[in-house]
Amino acid sequence: MNNQNKEFKMGPQMETGNFGGSQGGETLYIQHFRNEEARFLPYYMEKMQGYTALKKAFGMTQAAIVDEMKKSNLRGRGGAGFPTGIKWGFINDKTPFPRYLVCNADESEPGTFKDRDIMRYTPHLLIEGMVIGGFAVSANVGYIYIRGEYTREAKLLQEAIDEAYDKGYLGKNILGSGFDFDLTVHRGAGAYICGEETGLLNSLEGKRGEPRVKPPFPAQAGAFGKPTIVNNVETLANVPFIVNRGGDWFSKLGRLERSGGTRLLSISGHVKKPGVYEIPAGGMTIRQIIYDLCGGVLNDRKLKAVIPGGSSAPVLTADEIDVIYDIEPLMKVNTMLGSAALMVVSEDYCVVKLIHRITKFYAHESCGQCTPCREGCHWMESIIERILHGKGREQDLALLTDISDNIAGKTLCALGDAAAGPVASFVKKFKPDFEAYIRGGKHA
Ligand SMILES: Cc1cc2nc3c(=O)[nH]c(=O)nc-3n(C[C@H](O)[C@H](O)[C@H](O)COP(=O)(O)O)c2cc1C
Ligand code: SF4
Repeated sequence: MNNQNKEFKMGPQMETGNFGGSQGGETLYIQHFRNEEARFLPYYMEKMQGYTALKKAFGMTQAAIVDEMKKSNLRGRGGAGFPTGIKWGFINDKTPFPRYLVCNADESEPGTFKDRDIMRYTPHLLIEGMVIGGFAVSANVGYIYIRGEYTREAKLLQEAIDEAYDKGYLGKNILGSGFDFDLTVHRGAGAYICGEETGLLNSLEGKRGEPRVKPPFPAQAGAFGKPTIVNNVETLANVPFIVNRGGDWFSKLGRLERSGGTRLLSISGHVKKPGVYEIPAGGMTIRQIIYDLCGGVLNDRKLKAVIPGGSSAPVLTADEIDVIYDIEPLMKVNTMLGSAALMVVSEDYCVVKLIHRITKFYAHESCGQCTPCREGCHWMESIIERILHGKGREQDLALLTDISDNIAGKTLCALGDAAAGPVASFVKKFKPDFEAYIRGGKHA
């Protein structure tokens, strides 16, 4: 079968039917996904120890909660992998009020669709995690900024929030603790850049979703200029488990020293069983994920490439997949775990078309504030386009690498790197595929 002209499917348009287990470890989420009862409070209370962590947290000092978060080795699941306990620890006695807690539910990185399942099937985990987070940093107001396309999830989240208000888990004097916490769902209008935390905060404030200059970081001046903690959906949904069972227990769920817990993976592309999977953090290699967990490459074709961490991540070849799927091991092979969205590409698919599609996306989504990103992304797109149309020049590959070098690390936010890294890696690792268009007269 030839897939050369087929659309490469990745991201939230996929309706994921498959989901995986832990490969020998404990799972926190996956057993509740696909169960339509799980999102309701009775199920949450009966099967998931619902709101017991919140009760426990109210009996702890705020410093003790932050300490457990630090011990847990939970690292942000939004892409950067920053340790959550350390982030929460940036808020201290001297931090002015009011403070805010914002959940990043933009899930805009192409290939990523795991937060969607948390919001759809286990929304109370996120709500409970946010109330505990709010208590830990003394924030009385929280926002969930959700991508505009997630209409169903926004509705389901709102229903769960209403349930929580009804039972006194949100609102004034929660469970008689004296702590108030209000939670609002804010729908975005569908822009990748609003997943970047400061672009998100601007959008939340009703401004254009343009990233801000950092510093100041959100913990110093975030939403409405006030100290704000921004965390990803999966990050916050882990909090009730950590408070209930302890940071050490959570840390040991992971298989590497600095990575605690489990990871939800979004697997898409040419694989037999795409979907959302849960594995121990650092518990498998990419090869094991593709062949053991996901049943191998579609139609038993040969593997051509893997994009390991969402479309921002530099590509790996089929020879590079015996690497542990976690933050540091992937950094060592010059790519990244990002949002743990793994895209599999078979030998039937044209990698030049793939990088063209990815580059077009970043060019379209650039907010335009920085010259290297605004101009460079479109320039790279147009060069790859002319290569595809048989009008490429010998020097184009060197030019692409040069433009990529002049974007990476020279922009306000990481969208520039997200666009530059993949182009440089595709050109370096799949040179003959580009040359087939430039020299061999191949046409798209
Ligand atoms: C261009 C861009 C897009 C991003 N999109 C998302 C996103 O959709 N969801 C997310 O949680 N983080 C996203 N991030 C990362 C956030 O800026 C931020 O690091 C994250 O929300 C922090 O939460 P965490 O520490 O829990 O991971 C994006 C970053 C960049 C540069
Ligand atoms: S890197 Fe791109 S998206 Fe980010 S602020 Fe600059 S122009 Fe905007």
